[in-house]
Amino acid sequence: MMLLEVKGIKKTYQTKARKTVAVNDVSFSLGKNDFVSVVGRSGSGKSTLLNMLTGLLAPTSGAILFEGADLRGMGDLAVSRVRNERMGYVPQGYSVLANLTLLDNVCLPFYLFKREGAVHEKARDLLGRMGIAQLADRYPAELSGGEIRRAAIARALINDPAILIADEPTGDLDEQTTGEIMRLFKEINTGGTAILMVTHEPDTVAYGNRLFQMAQGKLEETQIKELN
Ligand SMILES: Nc1ncnc2c1ncn2[C@@H]1O[C@H](COP(=O)(O)OP(=O)(O)OP(=O)(O)O)[C@@H](O)[C@H]1O
Ligand SMILES: [Mg+2]
Repeated sequence: MMLLEVKGIKKTYQTKARKTVAVNDVSFSLGKNDFVSVVGRSGSGKSTLLNMLTGLLAPTSGAILFEGADLRGMGDLAVSRVRNERMGYVPQGYSVLANLTLLDNVCLPFYLFKREGAVHEKARDLLGRMGIAQLADRYPAELSGGEIRRAAIARALINDPAILIADEPTGDLDEQTTGEIMRLFKEINTGGTAILMVTHEPDTVAYGNRLFQMAQGKLEETQIKELN
């Protein structure tokens, strides 16, 4: 069984002024050890695609099967549970809660459905691996964009997901921190977690084993070496 099967999904945004086909008939499958980079110009549909894969957005048509289960057939609560426990999602942009400390932000997906176990220890360990252990008790308003971004990655990993889905996870990080995060991704992937990440940085693509290119809503797989 494939970890993730995407079958002809499409997303059309309909507003009063216009109709946008953001994702246009996209199909692919991911295995449990895949590490995929998705590249493509701004507006090509990458975030829309990720929001559908994580069940936040329903496709206009097509199907998404995760661990054999069709997301369409699940209720909102079940989809939320899958997203928080079996997937780890790092959305694009600012995604932490301002009134929680970093530590509590990282623990949040754990508290949603589980609540048993040494979660604080684990969250501190993850923050340490992100190089921000010393910031655990601070609030987002007192932190840099890159620090918040790293906390969002730690949060996505708190439940040991089967797949980490990340939208420009190193978008606001310097070269050195980007390298550290990518090495961590590689380590997580070697440990058996699939990764699907959107990136604008050609250097990060080499950490993965597959490359997808998105253009005007269409997704195509390409050879990693073709990008450079
Ligand atoms: N809620 C929405 N309503 C209408 N149109 C939208 C909506 N969200 C996105 N779009 C449009 O859909 C297209 C794809 O947007 P999307 O955010 O998926 O692109 P992207 O590839 O993630 O871009 P970026 O690299 O800038 O993050 C764009 O043309 C965008 O303007
Ligand atoms: Mg985007």
